[in-house]
Amino acid sequence: NLKHLIDRLHQSHNLSLDEFTELLARRDEELQAYAASLAAETAEKHYGKKVFIRGLIEFTNICKNDCYYCGIRASNRSAQRYRLSEEQILACAQNGYALGFRTFVLQGGEDPYYTDDKICQLVRQLKHNHPDCAVTLSIGEKTRESYAMYRKAGADRYLLRHETATPAHYRHLHPPSMSAENRYECLRTLKELGYQTGAGFMVGSPGQRPEDLARDLLFLGKLQPEMVGIGPFIPAAGTPFAQEPAGTLDETLFLLSLIRLMMPEVLLPATTALGTIDPRGREKGLLAGANVVMPNLSPKSVREKYQLYDNKICTGEEAAECIVCLTKRIESVGRELAVSRGDNIRYLNTK
Ligand code: 5AD
Ligand code: FES
Repeated sequence: NLKHLIDRLHQSHNLSLDEFTELLARRDEELQAYAASLAAETAEKHYGKKVFIRGLIEFTNICKNDCYYCGIRASNRSAQRYRLSEEQILACAQNGYALGFRTFVLQGGEDPYYTDDKICQLVRQLKHNHPDCAVTLSIGEKTRESYAMYRKAGADRYLLRHETATPAHYRHLHPPSMSAENRYECLRTLKELGYQTGAGFMVGSPGQRPEDLARDLLFLGKLQPEMVGIGPFIPAAGTPFAQEPAGTLDETLFLLSLIRLMMPEVLLPATTALGTIDPRGREKGLLAGANVVMPNLSPKSVREKYQLYDNKICTGEEAAECIVCLTKRIESVGRELAVSRGDNIRYLNTK
């Protein structure tokens, strides 16, 4: 009985590779509902009914990498490229602060224009303007020295999805210029430097099997990141995977629940990709164990250019300026929007 496995995960926070694989291969509606109810209960036990919000500033869609799945990959000639100036970025944050955001996530492609000095300058400015806010970077693979500089400049957190914990699958998703080992090493370095670190992966990416997802879960269990970002793979025009099928809502929801049960105190966003494959995807994510949402704070003029995948929701009511819509959505699933940094509680307790 697979429910016994869910119960054991709930109690002991780990399972074997074979057990996770079996859960993922044999998931059904009832099992999914069972996992979701325990996962939502677990999130509430540690974080109450709070949902933490992060203001996402997508400050450049120029990228030197060429991931096969990503719409802003270097060789996608149809992407309209942009960069935000320091003034624009700081203005996004000012605007976000007034709306109640206390975490800003600077996310971008691996764009060499933003040198370490420029990134450090930005982080210092943000922390100077908003000393009560957390600054999260999401700018890809850098050297230890660079990560250390950003940390010294005041960066609190770093998001770098591992994408897949199976090296052969990593090679299926990325060009030979990128390596799984370097990606995993970056994550270990970020943890060592004291960042609240976010790892994660896409659900239903091309070539992914249940045992790859099971390995992703074991990888998370070992790394113990403070945050985990997952969302369905969604095909993107202008990429080698443009014709591949998207990942599903249900599989993503089930994985959110498994992650919550395995890592009770993790910060777990209901991502934009989840909101893109289903109009109530993020709300369903909150009901399955998620406790974070990351609305867009970028200027409206560039929002539709940050197209990691097709049909990305980016205008109108899911965006940050409609804090009323966001509050309603959160309250529609019996939760409340938190105006706070929303740090990982285990991180706070061990510091
Ligand atoms: N579908 C879903 N997620 C994607 N990402 C990149 N491209 C896609 C896509 N086509 C995710 C990757 C990356 C994060 C910023 O967005 O996991 O780490
Ligand atoms: Fe930019 Fe993958 S395409 S990091």
